[in-house]
Amino acid sequence: MTPRTDAGSTGAAWIAGPGQPLRGTICVPGDKSISHRAVMLGALAEGVTRVRGFLEGDDTRATARVFDQLGVRIETPTASERVIHGVGLHGLRGSNASLDCGNAGTGMRLLAGALAGQRFDATLIGDVSLSQRPMGRVIKPLNAMGARIDAAAGGLPPLRINGGQRLQGIDYALPVASAQVKSAVLLAGLYARGETVVREPHPTRDYTERMLSAFGWPITFAPGQARLSGGHALRATGVEVPADFSSAAFFIVAATVVPGSELRIQAVGMNPRRTGLLHALRAMGADIVELDPREQGGEPVADLHVRHATLRGIDVPVALVPDMIDEFPALFVAAACAKGRTLIRGAAELRVKESDRLATMSGALRLLGIAIEETADGASIQGGHLRAAPAAILASHGDHRIAMSLAIAAQLADGEVTIDDVANVATSFPGFVALAARAGMALREGNSR
Ligand code: S3P
Repeated sequence: MTPRTDAGSTGAAWIAGPGQPLRGTICVPGDKSISHRAVMLGALAEGVTRVRGFLEGDDTRATARVFDQLGVRIETPTASERVIHGVGLHGLRGSNASLDCGNAGTGMRLLAGALAGQRFDATLIGDVSLSQRPMGRVIKPLNAMGARIDAAAGGLPPLRINGGQRLQGIDYALPVASAQVKSAVLLAGLYARGETVVREPHPTRDYTERMLSAFGWPITFAPGQARLSGGHALRATGVEVPADFSSAAFFIVAATVVPGSELRIQAVGMNPRRTGLLHALRAMGADIVELDPREQGGEPVADLHVRHATLRGIDVPVALVPDMIDEFPALFVAAACAKGRTLIRGAAELRVKESDRLATMSGALRLLGIAIEETADGASIQGGHLRAAPAAILASHGDHRIAMSLAIAAQLADGEVTIDDVANVATSFPGFVALAARAGMALREGNSR
């Protein structure tokens, strides 16, 4: 038996593979990034915001709970719907209790920006994984704007935000491409005197910019740069959340690698800052067709028709990395199933996600017999045959995207595989097991041995 190395295992596990071809038509849940932002801007707006397609995940629910704690009434008329009674930019109420962001880096980093200019103090906490993620990257620019935010040693959570500070606009060049840091600075900029400008080394998802504009805040933005001034108001509006490309990604890869598959995934969010995986997979030989491209809530969406294809390894273009930053665990699986070698570079950010994704994916795929050389900022993956090591337990390290990616890898293994510590899949993809099984994957709940 393989010893587990991850701390805080929940005992929840999956038994996965080998699987059948994936078939039929599926829908995946709402976009996590957009759902977080919809709650935040809805809460800070004047008037009532109705959100449709809200992700019923632990991460986004944690953000909604935080605003509830800060005095915002949020109703759930039906699942995937929220009605947010906005309190305006200055209407939040302080809370003596800590604000628990759960597993959500997006929740904590964006909240740090939104709360930096409030009159009250706040403490942001998170789970074991979030408590190990770097917050210095948001503290630095926010404190430069006049905020007073303290963290634990090493810039780790909890974050103590001292209220009552006067914020000043900033012209900030991000050292790493991060939509979370950009968004934190822009949200603080709502409360700052003067202009706030954020410049990115590579364009990242622009949901905060688009949504601020939809809520009536004057903002100018183009790929790689955003600019706004404080002193306006947010006006409530409707938000329609498209299906999350990152959740669709597991099924895109599964249908690509499992022979005989033909799957349609409906109404997937196709924001170009999210769809880098499609470019990488197509360069590897994947057969993915975009059908009925249209707009939903101001975002491009399309149905994706995916057929099995034989893949070949590629050098993943470094310029694609930010556009597929959450999809690397799934790409590792595609690379493991491809002919030849796939080279990933320029992806050091993967080491500070919900787990060190370069290490966790490399470790797990090696256990399945794949040759992987890990580097400081990437990996070299030699495609091969996936072998279910007898009695092996694949460690997901409590990382939702690792767990789901390993479930896909297991479909091609030559026997059943156990994947441990899978409870956090509920942070982004509630109902994954049932949907995967309906599409044809061999996947069921089990217990970690
Ligand atoms: C997100 C930005 C990305 C991404 C995360 C969601 C967002 O993080 O990995 O899942 O909603 O802004 P970084 O900003 O750390 O790259």
